[in-house]
Amino acid sequence: MNRPVLEGVRLNAPAYVKHQRLLDWVARMAVLTEAADVYWCDGTQAEYDRLCDALVRAGTFKRLNPELRPNSYLALSDPSDVARVEDRTFICSERQDDAGPTNNWVAPAEMRELLQTGDKALFRGCMRGRTMYVVPFSMGPLGSHISHIGVELSDSPYVAVNMRIMTRMGRPVFEVLGDDGEFVPCMHTVGAPLQPGQKDVAWPCNKTKYIVHYPETREIWSYGSGYGGNALLGKKCFALRIASKMGRDQGWLAEHMLVLGVTSPQGKKYHVAAAFPSACGKTNFAMLVPPKAFNGWKVTTVGDDIAWIKPGQDGRLHAINPEAGYFGVAPGTNYKTNPNCMDSLKRDVIFTNVALTDDGDVWWEGMTDEPPAHLIDWQGRDWTPQIAKETGENGKSRPAAHPNSRFTIAATNNPVLDPQWDSTTGYAIDAFIFGGRRSNTVPLVTEARDWAEGVYMAATMGSETTAAAAGAQGVVRRDPFAMLPFMGYHMGDHFQHWLAMGAKLEQAGAALPRIYCVNWFRKGADGKFVWPGYGENMRVLKWMIERIEGQAGGTEHAFGISPRYEDLHWEGLAFSGAQFASVMSIDRAAWQQELALHQELFQQLSARLPPQLNATRQQIAAKIAA
Ligand code: GTP
Ligand code: SPV
Ligand code: MN
Repeated sequence: MNRPVLEGVRLNAPAYVKHQRLLDWVARMAVLTEAADVYWCDGTQAEYDRLCDALVRAGTFKRLNPELRPNSYLALSDPSDVARVEDRTFICSERQDDAGPTNNWVAPAEMRELLQTGDKALFRGCMRGRTMYVVPFSMGPLGSHISHIGVELSDSPYVAVNMRIMTRMGRPVFEVLGDDGEFVPCMHTVGAPLQPGQKDVAWPCNKTKYIVHYPETREIWSYGSGYGGNALLGKKCFALRIASKMGRDQGWLAEHMLVLGVTSPQGKKYHVAAAFPSACGKTNFAMLVPPKAFNGWKVTTVGDDIAWIKPGQDGRLHAINPEAGYFGVAPGTNYKTNPNCMDSLKRDVIFTNVALTDDGDVWWEGMTDEPPAHLIDWQGRDWTPQIAKETGENGKSRPAAHPNSRFTIAATNNPVLDPQWDSTTGYAIDAFIFGGRRSNTVPLVTEARDWAEGVYMAATMGSETTAAAAGAQGVVRRDPFAMLPFMGYHMGDHFQHWLAMGAKLEQAGAALPRIYCVNWFRKGADGKFVWPGYGENMRVLKWMIERIEGQAGGTEHAFGISPRYEDLHWEGLAFSGAQFASVMSIDRAAWQQELALHQELFQQLSARLPPQLNATRQQIAAKIAA
């Protein structure tokens, strides 16, 4: 059926779409972008297969060897379009104050002129020669009171097929929307219009990039990138930046957290939500395989990247995973570090920017101890260990897979998926964990003595930057709540929101989750990680649970409580007291410097910094000095 809403636009809307406001918006966007065609995604497997076939024909996808990796594809991006672009990400609130000093801000009217309304607006004619895909999706289970709906308009079929894996995407969304339901409009273009007869490239994108959010009107406009968080707008743009603002307004939290279930040998199940910055171990922790000595313990995955957390009827904080798939980091993943992840990747995967083997399978750094003798690297070039050595930089071999290469898989691929991962009520959270990537200074694990101390830990978290974002890597920066790149409002208000939620729940008599700070990444003098990490992180998780049960000891220090050597379970791991001391040590000079960095952040946020956090900082500083 074809219902022209604006003259000259063939809308191609299916009869089941009865939402006039949505139809009008799609029509307006088709006019603005001058899309050659409009296609409405129904979300079926048949449609997915068709779009993937078309992507293979277009050269964007390579079909992998169906015997080795059934129903799986490899996409190689443009070398300039490989990660989130934080310096091109904008929170366009009406007032600059409301975006706060940690966000890029442009006045909404000015941004709209630049993108939409000006004579030379970037979205004018941006889809010429391309199809505009209408991608309806639900973040959270379809129809649940906890879920929110978005509609992404994109000229990238790569986005459409990824969104089918990452979200609940397709026709049923329109049934939930009815004729007047609320949805977040998400505009996306790769910014590469085609002239008549012009041949397309495998990965169209534009040097100019804008990832724009209007938090008050709940809109997203993304220009110029086809990659991950820049383009799959349900993820960081909606489920974190827009949702964090919704949560602030409505009394809930949208956080950059994995959620896992952990069951003890006695059969008691606990639920933990953990915030680690990008490429700092969320997917790994969420799929953790306990070491042999932890016979009877079991970890199940609720989510690996984003949690929406709301007070439940029982007064406790309940978390759901708004996503339906994982867009995870490939390098470093292998059968030792993350066997459940490797098993999840056996079929039905979209790989992006990993290397291609001669038998049509994939490889990335760390997948095997020895690299294959020959590969096609993520830029489509021949790669051998010898070539890699000769063409490497800074004394390192040139990697075959991009350090931020990723896989897209459905959550249902995960062999340890929690049976209630898509429940609408979510799970009551027993503990929050915050953890950065720090070669030094921050101990393996610390328990906060109360909610405010925990919020302080989260607020002052630092982490070394990773390949997940364009720009310098390995530089320590403050990454409060692991949300620095994902906050939709003023970071100081976020701290206050956490403090207020805690106070409110406590007043109502509910048990607040414990809060912990971890660091898996301390390095020794040899530059190597001291803590074995991965499955061995179970040892730390068990201590946390025993703390909750009042069964484990610890030692109190300036900023919390940490385990002594004898408080952790060491069976099956050779980890000496000296090694333990080196991942636990609290160096006074290093901490005085650390507190100065906390102070720097607090000064930056001073206009909206809750005074309680300053007070906590002063208490810690006094204890460290003593
Ligand atoms: P995003 O998807 O970017 O939000 O990241 P994530 O937090 O889910 O990161 P992921 O779990 O995919 O981990 C990324 C990198 O951290 C990989 O290279 C892992 O090998 C490494 N990593 C994960 N867990 C550990 C650990 O316990 N110790 C060490 N040393 N490295 C780890
Ligand atoms: C992150 O960078 O934290 C990710 C990957 O989870 S992306 O979806 O690209 O943002
Ligand atoms: Mn993430």
